[in-house]
Amino acid sequence: MSLKVGRRGGVPPFIVMDVMKAAAEREAAGNGVLHMEVGQPSTGAPAGVVAAAKWALDRDVLGYTLALGIEPLRRRIARHYRDRYDVAVDEARIAVTTGSSGAFLLSFLAAFDAGDKVAILRPGYPCYRNILGALGIEAVDVPVGPNTRFQPTPELLDRAGGAKLDGLLVASPANPTGSMLTQAELAAIVGYCRERGIRYISDEIYHGITFGAPAATALAYGEDAIVINSFSKYFSMTGWRLGWTVLPESLVRPFERLAQNLFISPPSLAQHAAVVAFDCTEELEANVRRYARNRELLLAELPKAGFDRLAPADGAFYLYADVSRISNDSERLCREMLQATGVAATPGLDFDPADGRAFVRFSFSGATDDMAEAARRLNAWLG
Ligand SMILES: Cc1ncc(COP(=O)(O)O)c(C=O)c1O
Repeated sequence: MSLKVGRRGGVPPFIVMDVMKAAAEREAAGNGVLHMEVGQPSTGAPAGVVAAAKWALDRDVLGYTLALGIEPLRRRIARHYRDRYDVAVDEARIAVTTGSSGAFLLSFLAAFDAGDKVAILRPGYPCYRNILGALGIEAVDVPVGPNTRFQPTPELLDRAGGAKLDGLLVASPANPTGSMLTQAELAAIVGYCRERGIRYISDEIYHGITFGAPAATALAYGEDAIVINSFSKYFSMTGWRLGWTVLPESLVRPFERLAQNLFISPPSLAQHAAVVAFDCTEELEANVRRYARNRELLLAELPKAGFDRLAPADGAFYLYADVSRISNDSERLCREMLQATGVAATPGLDFDPADGRAFVRFSFSGATDDMAEAARRLNAWLG
């Protein structure tokens, strides 16, 4: 007799992880891969963070911490809001989490019930849809495209249900498009949500990686938004699995109770080390300058290979290319591209189950030499 397997595991795969697997197989067979599929810095954590981790390893028992994180880190994050955004945040509202991924799970559980409707952008980061789905919360698509720079507008939100929505989740800069809301647009969307009782969730994971105006935080427009951030991107600490949330006061205790039960505490070693991450500015800004160089290089070279319809890329480290003139099946295109050129990229279906077949996402978080070589090979293949 076969035993029951829960429906929640029927959640779609995070396709980029499958692309990484195909790339790893190619590497294991002795063939090189230029990695443009995954959105993670090719650099490690800043030297100061590594030194602080070594210090903590030698001197701390590294047991569980408080469920919302160690005091010095929560205090340091609060100072970060003062320093970077000129926004005062009470450290009691800050919860340290296991990556922003842990923050999404706990925030969704704390703010919503099964059956609630949360609007997300399409294209968007796939795990939003998949985590919401696994929790029985309805993800409501807001299709966005080049005419609104891949960001929401009040009209698009009206079309998605307006006041019937329980939540709206937006990333600025966004994945996969890199597009950003201006300060005025962010203020308008937060205001739209407040007037209609819609909980605004702001994914600010790509803050710090911008190529024009800096990104604005939703915290500047009131205390009822949930703001989520991470040490994975700007701070170059993906595998340390550390993020944070700034919560409205009414959600702090519910979030804490859930965190106690689901995680006990975020990783102790990573927390002790991350306290100094905010002071490693020189190294982190050098990373951002590399992303900017990579972006410039690819904006000049990719169109020559036919990838000439690209989303704005105001921030983050992605170029989202409309490939409909090259292929009507981007999954196949990415498979063939890996085989023919050794360049790994992610098919748009990961980010957009409806129209993603016409798109490919290139990540430019890697080394500049690799980006130049990838562009050269793509040009030779398609140009
Ligand atoms: C928009 C966005 N949000 C959240 C995450 C999750 O990151 P982490 O759990 O490492 O903080 C990612 C990872 O790529 C992302 O692109």
